[in-house]
Formats: sequence, C-alpha cells, structure tokens
Amino acid sequence: MELRAYPARFVPPPQPGLTIPKVDLVLALGRAIELLDADLSAQQKRVALIAANIVGAMGLGRAEIARTIMAALLHGVGALAPAPHGNSTAVSARFLEISPLTRDLAPIVAASRDFQPAIGMRLGLTLNDALLAQALHLAHHVDEAIDPARFVLAQAAERRNGALEFTRTGLDARLVDAFARTSHADSFWLDATNFDIDTRIRARLSHMANAQADLDAVQDFARLYSVLVDARSPYTATHSWGVAAVANFIASCSRFDGETVQQIEIAAQLHDIGKLVVPSQIIEKPANLTVEEFGTVRSHAYFTGTLLSSVPGLERIAEWAKGHHEKLDGTGYPMGLAGARISPETRVIAVADQFVALTEDRPYRAGLSGQRALEMLGEAAERGAIDRQIVAIVHEKFATVDAIRRHAQNVERDEIKTILRAH
Ligand SMILES: [Fe+2]
Ligand SMILES: [Fe+2]
Repeated sequence: MELRAYPARFVPPPQPGLTIPKVDLVLALGRAIELLDADLSAQQKRVALIAANIVGAMGLGRAEIARTIMAALLHGVGALAPAPHGNSTAVSARFLEISPLTRDLAPIVAASRDFQPAIGMRLGLTLNDALLAQALHLAHHVDEAIDPARFVLAQAAERRNGALEFTRTGLDARLVDAFARTSHADSFWLDATNFDIDTRIRARLSHMANAQADLDAVQDFARLYSVLVDARSPYTATHSWGVAAVANFIASCSRFDGETVQQIEIAAQLHDIGKLVVPSQIIEKPANLTVEEFGTVRSHAYFTGTLLSSVPGLERIAEWAKGHHEKLDGTGYPMGLAGARISPETRVIAVADQFVALTEDRPYRAGLSGQRALEMLGEAAERGAIDRQIVAIVHEKFATVDAIRRHAQNVERDEIKTILRAH
C-alpha cells in the first residue's frame, strides 16, 4: 500500500547510514534528568567534574576520565523511576545495562554509593572500575560538604581536611594520594562550583567527538531511554515498546526502505520521552484534569522534540516523534499541523500510538480489547483525524498487529519489573 505523497519541500535530505555521536546520546539522557529534577542534574554534573579531576590526578587516561564523567552524569537515572527502591544506584545500574553504550558504566554506578571494598568484590569489579566507583563516592562526599552559601575558596582547606578524614573509611591509597595532591589547587574547588560546568564537562569528553553509534546502537539506547520514562507509572509501563513494535510492523507493510523503517521504530520508541515533564500524579490522576494539568500533559509532545533535537543527526526522528499527536484535520498538537504537512512517518507513529494507548488501562477507564481499539481507529479515520490508509493496514493485518502489540507490551512490562525489583 502506498502512502499519501509528501511535498518535497518538507523532506529533509536522506541520511543513509545514519550514525549519531555517542557522547551526545549519553548527554541527552543526562538532560532527561535535568528536565525532571534540576537539582539532581546539577549535583551529578558537579560530582562528574570533581571525580574527573581525582581520576586525572591518579594518572588514568582520557577514556577512564570519560567513563567516570558519564557514570556520574547517569548515576541518578534510577531516581526517575517511582520511589522507594532502597538503593537507587542499583536501580540506575539495571537501567544502564539495557544499552551497550552504557552497559560498562553499570558496575561503576552500582558500587558508587557507600563504596566498600567488599561491595566491589561482590560485584566483580575490575581494579580500574573499583577506583572509578571510589572516585565517585569521594566526589559525592566532597560535593555534599561544600556549603553553597560560602565562597568555595574560603572553605577549601576545611573541606579538604574533612574529605581526607572521610577517605580513611577504606578507600584505595592511590585514590587518597591523588585527591590529596589535586585538592591543593584552587582550580579543583573552583571547578566544583563553576557556573559554566557544561562547557568544562564537554571539554573533558572532546576526544570522543568522533565516536559514532550506528542505528542498532541508537535503537538499543532508545529502549533504555523509553523504559526510564515508562517505568514511572503502571499506566505507561507497556506503552513505548508496544508503539515501537506496531509502528515497525505498519512501516514494514508500507513503502519505506529498511533504514527508514528502523528510524520510524526509533522515533516511536522515543515519542513520549517528553512525558518526563508530566508529574506522575497527573499521569495517574483518576479524576478530570484541570486546564493547567491538561496543558502540562499536552506539552509532552513538544518536549519530546526538545530532548531529541539536541542530538546531532536525530533531527528527522525528533520531528516525527514530536508530531505523534498532530491530527490531519489540524486539531492536534503541539504545532497544529494539518494534512500534507504531517509526514507519512509521523502518521504511522500516530496510528500505532493511538492503537496501543486504547488497549492500555488509564486511570479513568480500563484498557479496550484490540478489536474495540481497531473500531475506534476506524472512527478516527472516518472523522479525518488519522490516516485512513494506515488504519487500513492495521485492519487488513489485524491478527498480526494485535499479537505484536501484546507481545511487545508484555516484554516491556517484564523488563520494568526486573529493573525495579527490590533487591
Ligand atoms: Fe504522547
Ligand atoms: Fe504515546
């Protein structure tokens, strides 16, 4: 089945063999934390720079400094999930294991809180990773001890002595020695409180600028990102993976090339990451939403675009994902696009999103059967809100679409259960 023509002026140049800078992907996840909890994000950045300075003073190379920074920037991702989980760094580590891009950071993150040599041994940490975990642990302590109300150099000597006392809890002698040397410098303390910490972090990661992630790696990373967002509420815990799988199938039945099908799946996986701006009390509210709450919910599509468009190379995927609530009759959001201005890729994601959403429980209604959801898609297509030809594909291949939908939803539900388990 051929999709409606898409005016040439709206089609960005094709990007065969799309690759994305790895460092930008990882930093994009750090920005998700910033969206949800600005204080946590600022703390992670300070800890990243303090730990990087300590690791650098130990004589470890740029690659190890970069791993330290990335582990610090992501060690709070577990806090995005609903509390309480006891040890949130263990939860963070289980999230980071999903993507090969972040998997090697997981053991460092898992051991970074309340580091004890025994924990490092139990987790089977390499000597290097144990040192990096300890550097994060010490950096955390230093950051917490700095009084933000006082100029940092006025308290540096005091903080330094306190931290040296703290290292007696069993931290590695190499690390303690490195900290003792580097914390003599004013720059160590000024770094920790620098107003332009983003630039300083970027500079430490500049050697990674050419490391590219291919589409498969981007897809795995998208799974990690979406599961973080979906894990916040049982109402969303099966959503993104369901939408991604259905969008992939619909796109495969249409005339998209293989690479575009994969990019559509990635956009579908990431379509709701802007939901991080929506407090989970609103997602779970059983009563009618106030005007303000509804506005917050609607803004999620816009913020999906914001988060994704900051990653060089993801511009097209960002546009498709951002448009998933646009309606062909112009009544959608966030841009209020209509007709031909809504791309075929976006239309596929919109239909997959609605189909999957209708089958899921919401605070105000139980999930519908696949059959009933299909009928409602038909009604929306009749009204001119969503693409008839795409709905026709769902209709024609309904048994397969519905089986794919259920399977993907079950897989995500199990994944989230495993990540959030108590121990
Ligand atoms: Fe959405
Ligand atoms: Fe959605």
